[in-house]
Amino acid sequence: MNKSSQEPSTTADLSTRDIPRVSIGTWPTPVQEAPRFAAEHQLRSLWVKREDQSHPICGGNKVRGLEYLLGRATQKNVKTLVSFSSAGSHHLSKTAWHARQLGIDTVAVFVPQPNAHYVSANIASALAAGARYVPANYATVLPKTIACYLRERLSGTGPVMFIPPGGTSSRSMYGHVRAAFELKDQIDAGLVPMPDYIYVALGSLGTACGLAAGLHHARLDTKVVGVIVSHRWYCTARRVRKMTRKASWAFTTKMGTAKPRISDDLDSAQPPLIEDALGGGYAQFTDSAVRRAKQFEATEGLPFDGTYMAKTLDGMLNFIERRGLQEKTHLLWYTYCPAPPTEIDVKALPSALRRYFDEPVQPLDG
Ligand SMILES: Cc1ncc(COP(=O)(O)O)c(C=O)c1O
Repeated sequence: MNKSSQEPSTTADLSTRDIPRVSIGTWPTPVQEAPRFAAEHQLRSLWVKREDQSHPICGGNKVRGLEYLLGRATQKNVKTLVSFSSAGSHHLSKTAWHARQLGIDTVAVFVPQPNAHYVSANIASALAAGARYVPANYATVLPKTIACYLRERLSGTGPVMFIPPGGTSSRSMYGHVRAAFELKDQIDAGLVPMPDYIYVALGSLGTACGLAAGLHHARLDTKVVGVIVSHRWYCTARRVRKMTRKASWAFTTKMGTAKPRISDDLDSAQPPLIEDALGGGYAQFTDSAVRRAKQFEATEGLPFDGTYMAKTLDGMLNFIERRGLQEKTHLLWYTYCPAPPTEIDVKALPSALRRYFDEPVQPLDG
């Protein structure tokens, strides 16, 4: 701990200011160089932070937030989680899987989405973990979620906890703030050079905004660049600023137990947004992203999904080319982790779910 400022400077310092947490992840996630792909794009230095390695079976970026969400759930003796998202959501799937390990049920209210391999894999994994999927559409998703929440409460099976879409809340963002300190430890240990830019998918914003706030508090001179992959109307600069402040606030208050502090230069730490990789919309794959993802897989051996990582890669390359940043050091926040392979009885599924196993899929993540 830096005694003069009483500010934490390593992950070890953070353990003294922790909030309820269950230890489910494997930390730190590794960092590795991607020299072949970098050479093909004339990049001097490209690195990958392997968030897919956050758990040996069911990893990905959601694990960082789940440690705190499930920490709260176990503290409150919660029996059922209720959340909503799109049908193939990694958030719903990973939440159901990790909650099951702790004996907690998950009710997953979902809206339809374009099909892909990873969609059915996520649904299968969550169903095998006992998740109850409830179909909805954009008009009914909120009332249905509230109805599910109330029904679970009235059922008398025990405490119920609502988890926001994407799992993003002040509590879960603490996990991503912590990731910045983890990265700082890796930089200090010489495992990775200080990146000038870190590229992160913007879905529900928690990963990028938590990281941006964390980099600020860890005093790393690195810029998070957010690649919009969910909805333009949701991923606005205003909301990103608000969310980054929220993450910082949560961190400095330790969830309400210390004096809050929002520093003046926090807003300058907020991620610039890349809009041009989204294409037709959420989960609609683009040719450019698929082509570049296949090239990355061929040169570096990492699989990409078309909704999050392929578009993040595409947005990163557009950003670098547009601004002529080939000589800088770039870090790709690699968040995609395929669901654990699971056998389920597809014929027994309701049609709202079975369609993702029967209908054609977009290329990639097969
Ligand atoms: C694989 C993957 N990467 C990135 C993201 C974006 O993270 P966030 O929702 O925290 O913005 C998600 C969100 O669902 C995801 O599933």
